[in-house]
Amino acid sequence: MEQDKQHWDKVYSEKQPTEVSWYEPMPEISLNLINECKLEKDAAIIDIGGGDSFLAEFLVSKGYTDVTVVDISEKAIERAKERMCEKADEVTWIVADAADFNPGKKFDLWHDRAAFHFLTEETQREKYLKTLIEAVKPGGYVLMSTFSENGPTKCSGLEVQRYSVGEMQELFQEEFNVLSGKSVDHTTPSGSTQNFTVCSFQKKK
Ligand SMILES: C[S@@+](CC[C@H](N)C(=O)[O-])C[C@H]1O[C@@H](n2cnc3c(N)ncnc32)[C@H](O)[C@@H]1O
Repeated sequence: MEQDKQHWDKVYSEKQPTEVSWYEPMPEISLNLINECKLEKDAAIIDIGGGDSFLAEFLVSKGYTDVTVVDISEKAIERAKERMCEKADEVTWIVADAADFNPGKKFDLWHDRAAFHFLTEETQREKYLKTLIEAVKPGGYVLMSTFSENGPTKCSGLEVQRYSVGEMQELFQEEFNVLSGKSVDHTTPSGSTQNFTVCSFQKKK
């Protein structure tokens, strides 16, 4: 949605990377989960709402050759590209609304940390999940991190939809096998704690 795009472009124009609550110098939880999937280095990986996080950079540095980052904010993607310099050419960057886009190919792994929870309307969630189900290969993985039922009700001034582990698993269990689900605390740069639900799934074959 246009107003979401404007909101996020403003955030990424006005705030330094370490001034946003979701900042993490190393996406350790995501990297560990990705590691557990034991993917080939040429596996197709997509990071939804990747912003200017370090995930794509770490994946490229680990030798993954097919990494895509999608974000609604062009500014976020510009910032990530600038930071990565020539390494940015090894990533496919897509400016798009995750609730309204066509990924154009199939993926071995779909990662989303703190983007899905901004989809507060049922129609947005339905579209997102339809795209995800179509885009993940049979046997492919999905890693989802959202604010938990004990997490904040807002992020970056926007309302979020919170999920317990059970609620998240219910969304996926028809098409995916549940691999894991846990509650994880994230410490923000200002020192506060945000409780996340982190789940992993594997698409049924
Ligand atoms: C809280 S930040 C998380 C960024 C990153 N995943 C991380 O873990 O550091 C949320 C990100 O989702 C993006 N975003 C929000 N709504 C989106 C949407 N509908 N489609 C795509 N990206 C979206 C924002 O621009 C922002 O970069």
